[in-house]
Formats: sequence, structure tokens, C-alpha cells
Amino acid sequence: MTDRVYIFDTTLRDGEQSPGISLNVREKLEIAEQLARLGVDVIEAGFPITSPGDFEAVSTIAKKVKGPIIAGLARAVDADIDRAWEAVKAAERSRIHTFIATSDIHIERKLKKNKDEVVEMAKAAVARAKGYTDDVEFSPEDATRSDFEFLCRIVRAAIDSGATVINIPDTVGYALPEEFADLIKQLRERLPELGREVILSVHCHNDLGLAVANSLVAVAGGANQIECTINGLGERAGNAALEELVMIMDTRARSMNKTTGIKTDEISRTSKLISSLTGYSVQFNKAIVGRNAFAHSSGIHTDGMLKDRTTYEIMSPERIGLAESRLILGKTSGRHAFRAHLEELGHQLDSAELDRAFGQFKTLADKKAQITNEDIEAIVAEEVRTVTETYKLEYLSVASATDETPTATIKLRRGVELLEQTNDGDGPVDAVCKAISAIAGMPATLLSYNVSAITGSLDAQGDVTVNLRINGRNYLGRGISTDIIEASAKAYLNAINKAVGVSPAPGEEIDREL
Ligand code: KIV
Ligand code: ZN
Repeated sequence: MTDRVYIFDTTLRDGEQSPGISLNVREKLEIAEQLARLGVDVIEAGFPITSPGDFEAVSTIAKKVKGPIIAGLARAVDADIDRAWEAVKAAERSRIHTFIATSDIHIERKLKKNKDEVVEMAKAAVARAKGYTDDVEFSPEDATRSDFEFLCRIVRAAIDSGATVINIPDTVGYALPEEFADLIKQLRERLPELGREVILSVHCHNDLGLAVANSLVAVAGGANQIECTINGLGERAGNAALEELVMIMDTRARSMNKTTGIKTDEISRTSKLISSLTGYSVQFNKAIVGRNAFAHSSGIHTDGMLKDRTTYEIMSPERIGLAESRLILGKTSGRHAFRAHLEELGHQLDSAELDRAFGQFKTLADKKAQITNEDIEAIVAEEVRTVTETYKLEYLSVASATDETPTATIKLRRGVELLEQTNDGDGPVDAVCKAISAIAGMPATLLSYNVSAITGSLDAQGDVTVNLRINGRNYLGRGISTDIIEASAKAYLNAINKAVGVSPAPGEEIDREL
């Protein structure tokens, strides 16, 4: 009998706390739907008290996403718990996840309370959550740096107050695997219901690169839920990477004797979706989902692979849903074939979205001989996931030569108006961005700029992501084109369009840079 390990995905909560990530409701919903297809057991959809936007995202996901339990995070205070319940209550199955810090340093310096008060807050929080739903998770934050006796006391109190899941976080990623394994063992000796009637969860951060290792030793010691994120996103160095944990348990099934409900062939697609919506690219040599994870370059390796793939491949790319890139559609493909193919890739577009995506596909087919799945995914990302396009790019011209200051002329359509602006800049991209900002009347600070090629060929599309700070908020923009300057203009405009109509962040000075 293999043991079932529950996968609790916190990409939309801890993952979204990664610096610079700011997803809108539609993007979060799309991620949650993909997580449901991936087969996670729990989606932690957000921290509803933190902002109206987070509340709306969690409640939309609770209403629309079927399958996984939908969890909302709450500090151990009434207002947070009430708000979390409001947000998750419409789900098929809802969970409230409440937490309070238990290490001396957090209790004294951050909470400025004594230990008795902290225990009372934990008990009251769990009891209040229990009044709303049977499924209540409790986390003693910074558990790995907490006094063991106190940890046992507060976990006992949480269970007695009705917690059905106890989560042990290594909040600052400090534990060594043998220490963490020992902590789990000792907790289970003192509280025998952990990992049995009460689910025992772990939540490991990656500050020392040990998040996956620590989660695995905990599972080997009887933990039956792992909290993790796609691509290892999360606070600071991130959380344990879902794809690594799952593929370790899958590839080493006979040694580990653990199973999950994850459909592994959805992993690659999920990783790409998260990367494209968050703007966090995946490092080339990242385990499982990095571009090179299945690439073999040395002569000896490729020779071995040609003779027998298992000489150098411990898992197949197909296992994570990574099919060979192949020509799938061409210039002559019609709307019907295009739609059928999108459906095969898991995208259900409404008719207006389909029209836009098909138009983009036809334009691309004129420029690029081979259109692959990656190209199609990029089109969907760019054309469909845009916010209302207040400004549309109508015309772009750039003049740039050695020893001359580059200039860009841009024409943007806003309704019936055609607005034109010429600017110079430090480079052609800078000139383009300045012209767009001037037309939209939106000064912006460029926080990051990233360009990559979608496929490997010379006629590949450039995929540009920019992170802009506008009126005290961050906006991610993405644009694709076979012309990198045009892709940059589209990405910049995408971020500007997201910012249109959004009021400045409270307490922030309007940024007048650029
Ligand atoms: O890292 C942490 O301690 C957390 C808790 C809220 C579970 O994210
Ligand atoms: Zn965390």
C-alpha cells in the first residue's frame, strides 16, 4: 500500500508574495483552473483580508473552480477569519487556514505578546473558523525556531479547538533535513493523531536551498500534506517546488512508496502558464521544468540516448507533458482547426477572444514558417489575457544608427482618436517606451525588462516582459512579435493598459520618473 500525500498549492498566496508579482483576478482564476486540471488537492487562493483585489480573487476562485479544496489565509484574529470565510464560503469544499507565530523572537519582537496570550489567540481563531467550516488548518509560524515544548502545547490546543490540519512551517528556511525529520518524528510521538486523524502538513522555504529536501524527509517521516508552489515561487528564495516534489515521488515511487493525485503530464503547461503570467522566467537548468532539463548536448550522452533513452534519462519528457515541439498549424489552417487545436491545449476561448487570437495567428503565419505549440501558447497569453485595451498600437517606426540618438514615432489609437508622439531615447526601446508613456500621460519606472525567444529558430518570436511601477503599483506587461522592438512596445503598452483607470496606491506619491 502506498501512502497518499496531499498537495497543497500556495502559488496564489505565498507564490504571489514574490517581489514584483501582481496578478489580476482574471489571471488568478486562470491559474486556479490550471491547478485544478493539474490535480492539486488544495488551492490556497490568497489572503483575503489584505486587499479588496485579493478578496475578489479568492471569492471568484471559490465560486468557479471545481475539484480542489479552496483555502483562504487568515491571521489568528476575528476580522481575518470572518473575511477569509466570506471569500471561500462559495467553494464546493472550503478551508480556513489560520496562523500565528510561535518562536520567541516572533512572539516578543513582532507580536509583543506573551506565550499564554498567543495560545489563547490560536484557540480562539481555530474555534471561530470551526464555527464556519469543518476544515480548519492551523500553522505555528516559524515552527522550526520555536521552543519544542511550546510548539507541542499550541498544536495540542489547536487540535483540541477543532483543527483538522496542522501545518509545520520552516518559515525562514533554516532547518537542516535531519533536524526537520527529527522535529516531525518528535511531534508525532507527542501528538499521535498527527498524520492520522489530523493531517500533518509541512511548508518549507528555500533560503538555504533545502525546501524540497526538508519536505521529503517530513513525508518519509509521516507528514501527509506538502505545501508548495509551481516553479518554487514564494517569499524571498521561494517555497518547495511542486514539480520537483511530485516528480521525485513519481520517479522514485518504489523507494518512497508515496503517491499524489497530480496529473504529471500537466506539469510543463502549468509551469509555463505561471511563468508567463508572473513574468518570472524559469532558470534554464531548473530541475523538471527548466529548458535544459531534458536536453542532452555532450557527444557521449547523445550517442547513449540514441541507443537507449534510459542511458541518460531517468524520466521521460512526455511524463511532464513535454511533447516534442512540432509543426502543428500553418498558413493555410482555418479558424476551425485553430480552435480545435486550442481546445486540445486546454484553452476554451469565447468567440471574441478566438477572433483576436486567430487574427494574431494569421499575422504570425505570414512571418514565420513553422508555428508550434509554444507559439500558440504565447498568442493566447498575449491576445487573450490582456485587460481592456484602452490604447492600441497602430504604428511604430524607429530610426537608429551608430553614433546617432535613436528616435521612435508611435501612433496609438484610443477610441476614435489617433495619438502620435516622437521621442528620442538612450536606445530604440527606451525611445519607444518614452513615446508611449507621453501619449498615455502615464509616467512609469521600468523595474525590469526581459526578452527571450519562444522557439529556437532564427525566425523565432521575441517574448518581452516588463515590470513597470506606475502610481505606486507594479504592473507586468508582456508582448510578442518577430520584431523585438515591436514586442517591447506591446509589452510596455500592455502594462500601461493595465494601469489605466486604477487609482494610485494609498500613501504613494505619483511617480514622475520617465
Ligand atoms: O512561511 C510561513 O510560515 C507561512 C505561513 C503563513 C504558513 O507562509
Ligand atoms: Zn510561507
